Amino acid sequence: MQLQTTIGQPPLRPLGLLAELTHRCPLGCPYCSNPIALESRGDEIDTATWARVFAEAADLGVLQVHLSGGEPAARRDIVEITAAAHRANLYTNLITSAVGLTEKTLAALAEAGLDHVQISIQDSDAASADRIAGYEGAYTRKKALAGEVVRLGILLTVNAVIHRANIDRVAAMVDQAVALGARRVEIAHVQYYGWAVVNRAKLMPTREQVERAAGCVEALRKRYHGSIVIDVALPDYFARYPKPCMGGWGRRSLNVSPSGKVLPCHAAETIPGLEFWSVRKHSLADIWQSSPAFSAFRGTDWMKEPCASCPRRFEDFGGCRCQALALTGDPRAADPVCHLSSHHALMAELADQRDGEPYIYQRQRADRTAAAENALVER
Ligand code: SF4
Ligand code: FES
Repeated sequence: MQLQTTIGQPPLRPLGLLAELTHRCPLGCPYCSNPIALESRGDEIDTATWARVFAEAADLGVLQVHLSGGEPAARRDIVEITAAAHRANLYTNLITSAVGLTEKTLAALAEAGLDHVQISIQDSDAASADRIAGYEGAYTRKKALAGEVVRLGILLTVNAVIHRANIDRVAAMVDQAVALGARRVEIAHVQYYGWAVVNRAKLMPTREQVERAAGCVEALRKRYHGSIVIDVALPDYFARYPKPCMGGWGRRSLNVSPSGKVLPCHAAETIPGLEFWSVRKHSLADIWQSSPAFSAFRGTDWMKEPCASCPRRFEDFGGCRCQALALTGDPRAADPVCHLSSHHALMAELADQRDGEPYIYQRQRADRTAAAENALVER
C-alpha cells in the first residue's frame, strides 16, 4: 500500500524519527513536553529493538533521528543505540540536558558517529537558569559540555526555551549561544503541552514582552548574520493562524515512546480513543501505513468547518489536534489559535491569566521529595 496525499503526488514518507529513549531526567523543567504520566524504566525497549527500529526507519525513508527523552544519556546503552542509528545511515542528533552526560561518554558518542548535539539552556543568568531547571549546577554543567561538543568537532545547536521569567534576556541568551560556539540557536517560546499546561499561568509572557522579544530577534539576526542561524518558534497564544503542527499529522515524522509505542506527535496520547501500535508487535512500515492513530487525522478528510473548506488547510492542516482537543474538547475542531475558530477568544483569555506561584516541576526521580521541591522553589 502506498500512502498518497493527492492522486498523482508521491507517497508520504516520514523524514524524521523522534526516539524518546527514556522519560528519566535529572532536570524538572516546568514546561517539559513529556506526558504527565511518564513511562517507567522497566517498560523501556532494549538496544536490539532500537537497532531494528532504526533500520526499518531508514528503509521507510527517514533521514534523521533525534535521540531524546527525558535525558537520553540516562540510558546505559546510549553509545550502542547511537552506533546502531549511525549504522542505519541516519543523521544522528542528540537532544540532551547535558546533565548526566560525561565527557567520556560524549567522546564515545562521537566515536560511534554522532553528528549533532542540541543542548537546551534555561537562561543567561545562572541562578535563574538553575531555578527554572529545578537543578542546582545545571547552568555550569551545560556550558562545560557545550564547550566539549565544539572541541570534538560535533555541530552544536542551542535551544533557548523562552517564557515570562527569561524573555527579557533573549539577546543575552543568543550572545551566550554564540560564545559557546553554536552554529544555530532556536528561540523556542514555550508550547503549552504536557507540563507547560500545568504551569501555563506561571510561564505566560505578556504581549508586550513577546513583541519586544520579536524586535530584539530581528536586530540579532542582522548583527549575527553569517555567524549563527537564529530560528524562532513563536508563541501560539498571540498568533492569528496556527502552526502546521508536526508538518501535518502522519505526514513527516514519527515519535517512538520509551516503551515502543509509535505516536504521530508527542502529545497524541492525550486524545481519547486513539489506538497506538507498538514496535514490539509491528514493523515501523506497518505502523506508518496502517495504524489507526496515524490514519485518524491524516490528510484533510477528517476536517469540519471552518477548516474543511478553508484554502489554508493544505498549509497548516488545521493546526494542532492536541491543542484543539485540550482547549475545545474536540480533536477535529480548528486549532483555536486560528482567528476563524469560534473558540479563538479563549486564547486571549488564557494569555491574560498569570500567577506568580512557584513552578510545579516535572519529576520522576523517587528521591525528589516534596520537601526537596519546596527547597528548590524557595532558592
Ligand atoms: Fe487553518 Fe482551519 Fe484556520 Fe483555515 S480555518 S486557517 S485550515 S485552522
Ligand atoms: Fe499533537 Fe500538535 S502536539 S498534533
